[in-house]
Parts: sequence; C-alpha cells; structure tokens
Amino acid sequence: MKICCIGAGYVGGPTMAVIAFKAPDIQVTVVDMNAVRIAEWNSDTLPIYEPGLDEVVKQARGRNLFFSTDVKGAIAAADIIFVSVNTPTKTYGVGSGRAADLRFIESVARTIAEVATTPKIIVEKSTIPVKTAETIQNILAANTLGVTFQVLSNPEFLAEGTAVQDLFNPDRVLIGGERTPEGEQAVATLAGVYARWVPRERILTTNLWSSELSKLVANAFLAQRISSINAISALCEATGADVDEVANAIGKDSRIGPKFLKASVGFGGSCFQKDILNLSYLCESFGLPEVSAYWAGVVKMNDYQKQRFSAKIVRSLFNTVADKRIAVLGFAFKKDTDDTRESAAINVVRDLLAEQANVVVYDPKVTAEEINLDVLGKGHANPRLTVATSAVEASRGAHAIAIVTEWDEFKTLDYAKIFEGMHKPAFIFDGRNILDLAKLRAIGFRAFGIGK
Ligand code: UDX
Ligand code: ADP
Repeated sequence: MKICCIGAGYVGGPTMAVIAFKAPDIQVTVVDMNAVRIAEWNSDTLPIYEPGLDEVVKQARGRNLFFSTDVKGAIAAADIIFVSVNTPTKTYGVGSGRAADLRFIESVARTIAEVATTPKIIVEKSTIPVKTAETIQNILAANTLGVTFQVLSNPEFLAEGTAVQDLFNPDRVLIGGERTPEGEQAVATLAGVYARWVPRERILTTNLWSSELSKLVANAFLAQRISSINAISALCEATGADVDEVANAIGKDSRIGPKFLKASVGFGGSCFQKDILNLSYLCESFGLPEVSAYWAGVVKMNDYQKQRFSAKIVRSLFNTVADKRIAVLGFAFKKDTDDTRESAAINVVRDLLAEQANVVVYDPKVTAEEINLDVLGKGHANPRLTVATSAVEASRGAHAIAIVTEWDEFKTLDYAKIFEGMHKPAFIFDGRNILDLAKLRAIGFRAFGIGK
C-alpha cells in the first residue's frame, strides 16, 4: 500500500511520521510545494519542534517515510491521499474574517483530478467546513479519465506539544465516509491502517458530515471551557475568589471533569479561533443566527481576556508604561511548541507597544525573526521591540515581567536574583498561573495572576 500526504505542516508531518513508524510495510510519502520545508524534513533540523518527533522521523525516514516536492508523482503512485494543507480564515470577500479559505483544498483536488489514473481514497485531514467533501467530490468528478474516488473525513485531534504522544495513543480515531458499499470499503481500508496500533474500539466510523462537524464541535467545546473559566477569572479578580480553587472545586464533579479548566491570558493556536469562527459562520449560513452568536461569544471572551491582561499591566504600572521596559516571557501559544499562530503574546506585545513600552521578548523556541514578523508584519521594524536570549537577560532592568507562555523553565527561575536587577517597584504578571504569588510577594514583587 502507498500513502501520500499533501502538506508537510504541523498536522501532515507528525501524522505521517507516526503512520510510517507504526506500519513499516506501508510506503508513506509526504509532499509539499514548499521546497524549503521539504528540505528541512529531510535534514537533521526538522521544520517543527515536537517532543519525540525527531526519533520517530529518524527511524522511519528513508525506510518507508519520504519527503518530496514531487506532488504529482506522489499522487499518481498513491492508493490513499491525505489532504493536509492549510485552511486559514478568509481575509477577503464573502465571509472574510470568519469562513475558511478553501483555495488550497480546491487546488489540491484539481491536481488530484488531473493526474490520477487509478482509483484513490482521498482523506480530508485539514479542518474544513462541513460539506467540503462534497466540493472535493464535485471537482474530482470532473476527472476525464473515469477514475473512481472515495472521499473520507478523518479529522486530526492531536494537540501541539504532545502530537507524537496523541498520535501513538489517541482517545479516538474518527473516520467518516459515504454510507455506500464503496464508501464502507474505503472506511475499512483506512481503519485498517490505524488498527496497526490503535485498539479497534477506539476507531469510530460515521457518515461524512458527522465526522467533518465533530472536528469543529470538539474544538468549539474545548475552547468554550477555556473562555468559561476565563470569564470567571475576571469575576474572581473582582471578588477575591481564586480561579484555580474554583476550577479545582468544579472539576471534581465527574460530570464537569478537571481538564481544560486552566485560566490563562487567552487561548491561541491555529485551530480554536479559526474553527469557532468557521462554525459560527456555518450556522449563520444555514439560517441559525442565535446559534451563530452563541459560539461567536467564545472568541469574543477570548479577545476580552487578552486585552484585559495588557490593560491590567498598564493600570498596575500607574497607568503608564511609556518608556518602561517590560519583559515578556514566552511567545509560543503554549509550551513545548515553536508555533506562534494566534498566540496571545502577539496581542499583548502589540498592546504594550501601542502604549509606548519597550518590550523585550524571550521564548526558548521561537526565533527573533518570527516574533518581529508576528508583531509588526513583514518588512516593519520598531526599535521598542527587542528579543533576548534568556529570561534573565530579558528581565534585567525591567519594570515588569509578563509570563505569557507556561514554559517549564519559567517555573524554576531564580526570581529573587531577577528581582535584584529590576526597577522598583518590580511587577510580575503571571498570565498562566504557574508561579507561587505568595513567594514572589515575599521577595518584594508586586505579583498578579489570572483570576487571583
Ligand atoms: C487543539 C485541540 O486540543 C486539538 O485536539 C486539535 O486537533 C487542535 O486544536 P492545540 O491548539 O495544539 O490543539 O493546543 P491545546 O492544548 O488544545 O491548547 C490550545 C490553547 O488553549 C493554548 O493556547 C493553551 O495554552 C490554551 N489552554 C488550554 C488554556 O488556556 N487553558 C486550558 O485549560 C487548556
Ligand atoms: P497545518 O497546521 O494544518 O498542518 P501548515 O500551514 O503547517 O498547516 O501546513 C500546511 C502545508 O500545506 C504548508 O506547508 C503548505 O506549503 C502546504 N500546501 C498548501 N497547499 C498545497 C498544495 N496545493 N500542494 C502542496 N502543498 C501545499
């Protein structure tokens, strides 16, 4: 069996590496039109950072895992084609700012229709609006060679930072297909790939639309929990309750459960915001404005939380941060990844720059180029934004420290020493609630958490 995956990104790369690792008899080729990215996948420095990924790639690469820019060749040879290209939020035209931009998906479908000469199973891996499979099917039907295609939906539920672990041991694998004999056959073929290492009872099969929708809904529910606890964090700050204590107390109710209740500066990542906006737009398109508004509220609350954090910094520093040095620790949207897409840090840094602060960012995995690009945009510079090579360096001479990503190394810094090198009064804003505020206050810091 030959598998090809179009798109060597955060989803396609790790997913295919794990399939190749677990199924040595299947030849897996990951293709991308981005030649630099492919060269990186073929090098010792992979284009993305994921704990455990290096070992998996090293084992399988060259054996049955290949990275290539020959998109057409890999499509022609494959039995199963995973489509794992990016589906950003549209920035133009109808649905701008909310709907998913499907231009990459469509272009892939056209390429497949053009080069396929044998039957293929096409697997949607990218998150896409419900009924995209239909679009793909329609484009494929234009194939003039009479080739048959089965389109399946197989959404990815891996979280960055734990991708390899999630792929090795998924809560479930979801496969949606057409309820026809050919569709069922295709679903069984794909289920057979995962069954090499995933227990059968964790492989769920549904119709196409249920599978497509489940991905959006899973992310919407997860994000909703964060926005819910973040909403409560504002109330905690107003009343003197402690949000971690509230989360712990409610999480003990087995109906609620303890996970995804960590109050924070706001969720980021490539999925949550995009998928909720997409879901909300979908509801509106189907004439359900109340449902649409309900889900849009989750994103609104997240925007409020990010803005509330920077506003608190400014207010606490006597309503002005102009020319003050603020150390921002962490820039990735969460720990153990170098991904910065939709990271709350981007908003926080922009807000502080708008207040004319001198912002010094440090992140263990994110490059200075990426930080500048994300905050200022291509080709722009701002002398007030600098990047340090350590947390200690960033904090030296600072008036305040803002922790935006929960990197483990920030938990064990020598804060007493850092305090000595800072302007007084020295402030610390823990946007992730990873530090002991009482200890920081004992050192002399004016310390604030989220919802405390
Ligand atoms: C998410 C989903 O978890 C995953 O199933 C889906 O496939 C893709 O989207 P990811 O974005 O990689 O994964 O990371 P996740 O761990 O879900 O965190 C998302 C954001 O929420 C991060 O910014 C994180 O810091 C934040 N978060 C998470 C909180 O603020 N509080 C929490 O309790 C949990
Ligand atoms: P994700 O987080 O969903 O994996 P990424 O942006 O990290 O998203 O990766 C998507 C990849 O898909 C990019 O590397 C991009 O170059 C690739 N891609 C997009 N369109 C095509 C296409 N038509 N052919 C080949 N690769 C594509």
